[in-house]
Amino acid sequence: MFEVLPALAPDPILGLSAAFRADTNPNKIDLGVGVYKDEQGNTPIVGAVAQAQARLLESETSKTYITPQGVQGYIDGMLELLLGKGNPAVLANRVAAVQAPGGCGALRILAELLKRCNDNAKVWVSDPTWANHIPLIGNAGLALDTYPYFDKATASIRFDAMLDTLKTIPKGDVVLLHACCHNPTGADLTQDQWRQVAEVAQQQGWLPFIDSAYLGFGDDLETDAFGMRLMVESVPEVIIAASCSKNFGLYRERVGLAVMVTENSAQTPIVQSQIQAIARGIYSMPPSYGGALVDIILHDDALKASWVAEVDEMRNRMRDLRALLVTKMAENGAPKDFSFVNDQKGMFSFLCITPEQVQAVRAEHSVYFVDSSRVNIAGINLSNVDALSKALVSVL
Ligand code: LMR
Repeated sequence: MFEVLPALAPDPILGLSAAFRADTNPNKIDLGVGVYKDEQGNTPIVGAVAQAQARLLESETSKTYITPQGVQGYIDGMLELLLGKGNPAVLANRVAAVQAPGGCGALRILAELLKRCNDNAKVWVSDPTWANHIPLIGNAGLALDTYPYFDKATASIRFDAMLDTLKTIPKGDVVLLHACCHNPTGADLTQDQWRQVAEVAQQQGWLPFIDSAYLGFGDDLETDAFGMRLMVESVPEVIIAASCSKNFGLYRERVGLAVMVTENSAQTPIVQSQIQAIARGIYSMPPSYGGALVDIILHDDALKASWVAEVDEMRNRMRDLRALLVTKMAENGAPKDFSFVNDQKGMFSFLCITPEQVQAVRAEHSVYFVDSSRVNIAGINLSNVDALSKALVSVL
């Protein structure tokens, strides 16, 4: 049976971790997969998560199945986090939601739902977008296309070109937007730009599909939700795929949420039944554990405050590392100005160098990051930033 299958190339992002592990250079630097790291290069368990685990261990009395929609406290807490307290769409019963195995699981079941709604729906993604958006959405059988987003030559958003394309997209199609901390570029829309995009969505009638994977890593948990909340206010239907991998540090638990804002409350139970049937046909029901932890954190004032403080700390550290990299690049004689890195947000930056330069810095200096020039800012630290900037300068 299997003899017909060709071996595939490693995943463009996850494959970097394997290559990094295999590299014997003691001075190797890993700026590949999007995982938060501290100054020592470790990814510790978030303190609030550790406390929630202890509480769960004491209080959990059964491992029987949870409900198909997931942990209800998790869903309610997440909806408040994403959409704000007392969101009118939630109060009007216009929101269906299901816990999903990670943001990826949410993206996939939402893509399957779109396919059920409109076989011919095209999903428009930013150019560039996160590499895994393509299989997650495309493998559901949906056609993909791109709208202009980022110009490597100027290291800035091509907003006019983006808007021009969004104005041509018809009702029945879907536009995938990153809530904040755009992956891979780190370049985010301003609030005014979000308003313009929302106006176009209203005029054209296409469906906004928001990917929210880095809430809290841009400006703060509330500000980062601005565009997503504006969309929910502005148009009748929105779908959201949210992830707790990064801001709760729950990478391996696979905790996500698929949210469907419907036009009216009569549609909500219908959409809920459809998404649950889709999930049942793929993985039956979500794993409970990570959602149970987030439920505990979001429903305990002290624990929530401690988690928010930890998110703030992670964000501020990444912001400081950006500034440090920019300074070191200049100090070490970079032939161009890298200060645009300070304007980008979240975990990633596009260094706007060529794939050949990325491969050269990997081969010659064991510095690992994605060929597109995306670096994981959290992989930088005080011990490696000088060597990193010298390595980068040497290939420019
Ligand atoms: C990333 O973009 O590096 C992360 O979201 C990890 C992944 O699954 O690609």
